[in-house]
Amino acid sequence: MLRVDRLRHVYLKGTPMEHTALIDVSFDLAPGECVAVVGVSGSGKSTLSRIVAGLLAPTGGKVWLDGRDLTAPPTLGAWGRRFKAFVRWLLGVFDPRRWLARRHWTLQRSTRPPRPAPTPPSRPVMLAFQNPEDQFFTTCVMEEIAVGLVPILPPGVGGNGVSIRELLAAPPPAVLEALRLVELDPARYGARDPFTLSGGEQRRLALAVLLARRPRVLVLDEPSAGLDDPGRARLYACIERVRREQQTAVLIVSHDLEEVAAIAERVIVLADGRVAAAGQTAQILADAPLLQRAGLAAPPLVRLHQELATRGFALGGEWLDVEAAAAALVPALPRSAPGKGAANA
Ligand SMILES: Nc1ncnc2c1ncn2[C@@H]1O[C@H](COP(=O)(O)OP(=O)(O)OP(=O)(O)O)[C@@H](O)[C@H]1O
Ligand SMILES: [Mg+2]
Repeated sequence: MLRVDRLRHVYLKGTPMEHTALIDVSFDLAPGECVAVVGVSGSGKSTLSRIVAGLLAPTGGKVWLDGRDLTAPPTLGAWGRRFKAFVRWLLGVFDPRRWLARRHWTLQRSTRPPRPAPTPPSRPVMLAFQNPEDQFFTTCVMEEIAVGLVPILPPGVGGNGVSIRELLAAPPPAVLEALRLVELDPARYGARDPFTLSGGEQRRLALAVLLARRPRVLVLDEPSAGLDDPGRARLYACIERVRREQQTAVLIVSHDLEEVAAIAERVIVLADGRVAAAGQTAQILADAPLLQRAGLAAPPLVRLHQELATRGFALGGEWLDVEAAAAALVPALPRSAPGKGAANA
């Protein structure tokens, strides 16, 4: 579905401050798949995510989504649409009917029957910056999601000239669906000020704002930074639901390898802007020398697994979470241990 092909990016090209941030980065992302990009600070993770999300034009290489080139500069078609819109606006300015009707503008607008709400067109790639809740700018949860839909909703729907009371009385289906996906009950949270939500709820609301546009690919920069364990678990469950129900592909940028172990199926290791390694999560996270070369430390459970092996306890399994580690460890423990512990207590 998404194909990143030999991406290359040079900041401030041709100046003394020229810096090459990405060199020949290539990978694929399938529908519903979760891939993590890991690397130390300055390895090029955010540059990559901004290019994939279409916020930065790469110096070289392409990003394809279902055969469509997302990095292509605006085509003649796009310019044609802009020109047509400009001509429409110009004709409107000089249209005498408009000036005659202007005195009754409010009346006319309120009596015009509302156009049916179109299905929101999918925005192909959506990027959540780190701490996306810092960018909330409305005073109501429903409105925060609806304003993102304004360009695609008809006039008078979803914050487009509509009062918050009207919005709460008849929320657009896309808003309700986004709230469901992130487990925020519209009746309980819909009218709240986003800044009164807990940290975990704010992070999930920020995700809902993106989900309302029905992206094919979600790019998340350090999605769980600053959350406590229950907050993380809930966010991961929401990401999992979006992948399963909507087949949305997820690209996670992180340097927290525990997070990567919890949600990603594949890992791409970036070092100095190059792909140092790529493979299944268990395989990459178990490769301590590789991670060390990239400046990263394996998650504590993987390190414990390796430490036990060096001390002569070669236990199988992929130690990516506590349950998997316990399943591998328990058969190797003496059977009498729990009873003894209880007797001593
Ligand atoms: N606008 C810019 N102009 C010049 N250099 C830049 C610019 N943005 C980023 N860089 C440089 O490009 C390199 C990669 O930056 P990037 O932000 O992609 O790193 P990162 O892996 O996301 O780091 P972190 O984990 O700290 O967020 C860094 O050396 C950075 O200084
Ligand atoms: Mg970054």
